[in-house]
Amino acid sequence: MPVVTLTVNDELVSGQSGQSLLSLLKELGIEMPTLCHLEGLSDRGGCRLCMVELQGSKRLFAACVTPVQEGMVVYTHTERLNNYRRMILELLFAERNHVCAVCVQNGHCELQTQAAKNGMDSVRYDYLVPDLPMDASHERYVLDHNRCILCTRCVRVCDEIEGAHVWDLMGRGVNSRVIAGLNQPWGDSDSCTKCGKCVQVCPTGALTLRGSTVAEMEKQHDFLKWILTGREKKQWDYS
Ligand code: FES
Repeated sequence: MPVVTLTVNDELVSGQSGQSLLSLLKELGIEMPTLCHLEGLSDRGGCRLCMVELQGSKRLFAACVTPVQEGMVVYTHTERLNNYRRMILELLFAERNHVCAVCVQNGHCELQTQAAKNGMDSVRYDYLVPDLPMDASHERYVLDHNRCILCTRCVRVCDEIEGAHVWDLMGRGVNSRVIAGLNQPWGDSDSCTKCGKCVQVCPTGALTLRGSTVAEMEKQHDFLKWILTGREKKQWDYS
């Protein structure tokens, strides 16, 4: 792949043409906040936490869906970006009912971690306090809409890795919801294979194992790499 040269935080660096800016920044050891990105899944630029400034543009760009380009001048942690990141996190907390103290993922939650890392110690916006249901119809797992940040990792892992496409999004804006099947109880979905991949990739306590109690739920992402490497090496091709 052709090499491109660009400037990141005033340092001259090189990357591969076609590579995403986020993957280059990770290679360079620059820690970028992310919530919707997960290694092994396609990127959608949804959470906007990985935003960067590009010289010559007033717009901000999500690094996960921006390819590196020759001559780019990138800034990753300006005051403007830090303020926006904090604002995004506050809006996420204000939109649903993220009550960490009684959440099964308290202490292992990526939203909570990002809030702490980005200095979000309070929320300046009015909480919407929506009246949201839980779906406990599945024999193994639970969906709690109160904790969902609509990152769509569950949608993507079920579609791209498991191939079942149980999950999707319905509605718009603050009324968007993750739905199973044709907006039916998860337990009634015929396409769910009960694999639990969606639960393991969920960054918050929105998808959890049935029976987990406060702070018990800790997610494992490693299976994604294991599956993708195995498929690449055709480890399970017995034909
Ligand atoms: Fe890039 Fe969410 S990680 S927008």
